[in-house]
Amino acid sequence: MGNLKVTMTDVNGETRTFEDVEEGVSLMELGKQNGVAGIMGDCGGGCACATCHVYVDQNWWDKVGEPDDIEFAMLDMVADVMKDTSRLGCQIKMSPELDGLTVTVAPSSSY
Ligand code: FES
Repeated sequence: MGNLKVTMTDVNGETRTFEDVEEGVSLMELGKQNGVAGIMGDCGGGCACATCHVYVDQNWWDKVGEPDDIEFAMLDMVADVMKDTSRLGCQIKMSPELDGLTVTVAPSSSY
């Protein structure tokens, strides 16, 4: 068990905080393991499905950083729900730097 903290709001608006997240675990894995509504992770973390789409809290955006080109292209395909702080959850791996990270799961109905 790790000791990093992540707060996630699911598609139903329910907010949960996980306080024992291990370094290296992706937000998709975390969401899936804990049954966070809206995190499907259909492609298993391959940056190929966007069912792990999250909105990063504005205060965390600088630390999390921009998506790379491949990730951006995937996000762009779900453009109707894309925001400036959109990222794929499987591409965000937890690290001590991200301790306390807050994200909101993006709506998945239009995938
Ligand atoms: S799990 Fe498929 S893109 Fe993240």
